[in-house]
Amino acid sequence: AVEESKQIWQEEDVSRTLPEKSPSSHKGSRGKGLIIGGSTSMPGAPSMAISACLYSGAGLLTAALPESILTSVSVNNPEVMLLPLPEKKGYIAPEIISTDFTFDSYDAVAAGPGLGRYQGTKAVVKKLLQGVKAPLVLDADALYYVPELEQEIKERQVPLILTPHPGEMARIAGVSVHEVNKNRFSLSRAFAVQHGCYLVLKGPSTIVTTPNGDQFINTTGNEALARGGTGDILTGMILGLLLQKGDVSSSISNAVYLHGAAADLAVKHEFHSYSMVSTNLIRFLPLAFRSIV
Ligand code: APR
Ligand code: MG
Repeated sequence: AVEESKQIWQEEDVSRTLPEKSPSSHKGSRGKGLIIGGSTSMPGAPSMAISACLYSGAGLLTAALPESILTSVSVNNPEVMLLPLPEKKGYIAPEIISTDFTFDSYDAVAAGPGLGRYQGTKAVVKKLLQGVKAPLVLDADALYYVPELEQEIKERQVPLILTPHPGEMARIAGVSVHEVNKNRFSLSRAFAVQHGCYLVLKGPSTIVTTPNGDQFINTTGNEALARGGTGDILTGMILGLLLQKGDVSSSISNAVYLHGAAADLAVKHEFHSYSMVSTNLIRFLPLAFRSIV
């Protein structure tokens, strides 16, 4: 049986584990990240993940997106480098599998925001699970294929981080949303231990579970986060902090903490939980980082 360990992840923990940057930092020492996602109907999701990743310390960030959305994404994120992917009906086409597309030069990779679901999307996720030799974050529609890719997940030797909301968790765990909400801790632990992955079960009091079954509970954030796009921002932040070379577990918990802290600052200083959009959250990331002493 797995020893139960649960703790609240507090500001002291963030302060203790957030890697320090020295004056001699250069863009390479900040890490090279890759985001894969987007489709013609969801260009905003990867765009928000990209901004959030850049505001969380990424030194160099590349976005691999369907060709037709490159322009709109780059207008919003001039810092990001772009890798146009072949597409079918506005979705990333599985042809990336046969192209010389490699993931070797990245320190961490995140996939899912705006990815959508189309024939071939599963093959794209499978290729990532097998080909990415650095920490890999799967979110949103990339999670849809988790039940069909159990074997690839269990065989993976490098950290895998899944970030489901309760509805996505219900699907990947094969239970109802009601059951997820009733058994958040035990379901998360069973899933993470059985699959050997990190699991971020989102919602008020997000729980981060490690492959050993250790659990960290978040206390920041508020109902202003209950709108489309904030999950994509979290994915970008997790990627950004994974690139800073802290350990995987604290990088994830720190991202969750700072994401919630930004929402708390946004409603305290400027916005209202009714009157705010997800991109506004990104403007509060610097204040959230500055709030850590
Ligand atoms: N209190 C605190 N945090 C919250 C709250 C709340 N009441 N509600 C949501 N959050 C946080 C979650 O913990 C998570 O970090 O906001 C984020 C929401 O993430 P997602 O649910 O992944 O949202 P997102 O992907 O941006 O948008 C919803 O998911 O189900 C699909 O089709 C749906 O497109 C929609 C998308
Ligand atoms: Mg989401």
